[in-house]
Amino acid sequence: MKISLTVNGERRETDVWGGESLLYALRERLGLPGSKNACEQGECGSCSVLLDGTLVCACLVLAAQADGHEVVTVEGLARDGHLHRVQEAFVAAGAVQCGFCTPGLVVATADLLERSPDPSDDEIREALSGNLCRCTGYQKIFDAVRMAAQS
Ligand code: FES
Ligand code: FES
Repeated sequence: MKISLTVNGERRETDVWGGESLLYALRERLGLPGSKNACEQGECGSCSVLLDGTLVCACLVLAAQADGHEVVTVEGLARDGHLHRVQEAFVAAGAVQCGFCTPGLVVATADLLERSPDPSDDEIREALSGNLCRCTGYQKIFDAVRMAAQS
């Protein structure tokens, strides 16, 4: 089946099969490998994207469900060649090691700061509770979120 959706502000069309995930369609059909596939079971958050402004795991959404809707991936956060402030903060804070969790954490953090520009520690923990990192121990990620909030 053919679907038509807006991805990072651009109208895109692609053929998908009925059981295909949005994550697969983004990565394999639309040339956007930023969203990572680390579990494909909704457990790790590495595939986090915004669907009509709501944070979702793209591996749990059917591509067909995104037909006619708006998706923002990590590739859509930078503007005019400049990294998003959350991306800059993750680099500055040293919050990236293997980087597998990073795109999902960046999207989830950008979403958090959109809703709550000066989040408490508990709000940060809650907002990022669906994003697993196996490398950093989370302290640097916390530092990055606070840095982004202050920037
Ligand atoms: S790949 Fe989607 S939650 Fe892990
Ligand atoms: S930096 Fe490796 S999983 Fe988070």
